[in-house]
Amino acid sequence: MTLKLGMIGMGAIGKETLRCLSRPDAGIDDGHTGVTLVATLVSDPSRHAGSRYPIVSDVASLLAARPDLVVEAASQAAFRALVPQVLAAGCDVIAGSVGALADHAVMASIVAAAKTGGSRLSIPSGALAGIDALASARLVGIDTVEYTRSAPPSTWASHESARGRDLSALDAPQLVWEGNARDAARTFPKNANVAALIALAGIGFERTRVRIFADPSLTTNLHSLRATGPFGRLHAEISSTRIGDTSSSRIVAGSLARSVMWQTSRIAI
Ligand SMILES: NC(=O)c1ccc[n+]([C@@H]2O[C@H](COP(=O)([O-])OP(=O)(O)OC[C@H]3O[C@@H](n4cnc5c(N)ncnc54)[C@H](O)[C@@H]3O)[C@@H](O)[C@H]2O)c1
Repeated sequence: MTLKLGMIGMGAIGKETLRCLSRPDAGIDDGHTGVTLVATLVSDPSRHAGSRYPIVSDVASLLAARPDLVVEAASQAAFRALVPQVLAAGCDVIAGSVGALADHAVMASIVAAAKTGGSRLSIPSGALAGIDALASARLVGIDTVEYTRSAPPSTWASHESARGRDLSALDAPQLVWEGNARDAARTFPKNANVAALIALAGIGFERTRVRIFADPSLTTNLHSLRATGPFGRLHAEISSTRIGDTSSSRIVAGSLARSVMWQTSRIAI
């Protein structure tokens, strides 16, 4: 029996996630059962007219399709509004827009909904490398965590132009923002999910230091994670290819697909 998958969001990452799942070599063992997409909830159904995906426009219709598992790849707003409803209905969720968890009220609503539904929210590694080691180190002891994100200047153009700053003529890397992970996730809702991911896996939102750079020499997203503590020292860095002309890293789709495959494979890695 294949796993019945529901999706919230069918943009750059959603489509790429389905592509990853449909690779003939997706399973590392021949026990991989595969997935069937039973419903896709989007905010703009008219733009998906004639789509090959089973498009729905409200959460009731998503749940009526009886998914075994739902992947959220939409937005922080969609996460806040919809994921608690899915969890409360007893369906597990794999989350992409985890920056929403920087808000105490959202975190509380997720925990309450999962208790009500006997369900679980899973947070995959997303765009980051080293999250497995960081989450393990947390159980041993961590003193410091630093995250540096560098991306092409266009990624931060709207944030900077709102402050009267123009990055278009930049000829060297420039620090755009620094602060803690809670403020990073609130300030850059589309681009600071990784800061939230690191905070949740490591030493929390307040103690995680974040620096964001605009770098005109880059065409990819550069994520660098450093941590120290009784566990030792960690330095992980990944340069991620973007999906088309979006700012989203292609590897995020691989990480969502991999999390789905934890449910469908005999050997999970
Ligand atoms: N965890 C990570 O490491 C990581 C990395 C990059 C991006 N992301 C997040 O993944 C999410 C998806 O990114 P993307 O590049 O695919 O975005 P996108 O704009 O290409 O696609 C978003 C999709 O979500 C749908 N959507 C938006 N709001 C919705 C709502 N309220 N209800 C239903 N559907 C809604 C849109 O219709 C669209 O199909 C974003 O929140 C992004 O910040 C996470």
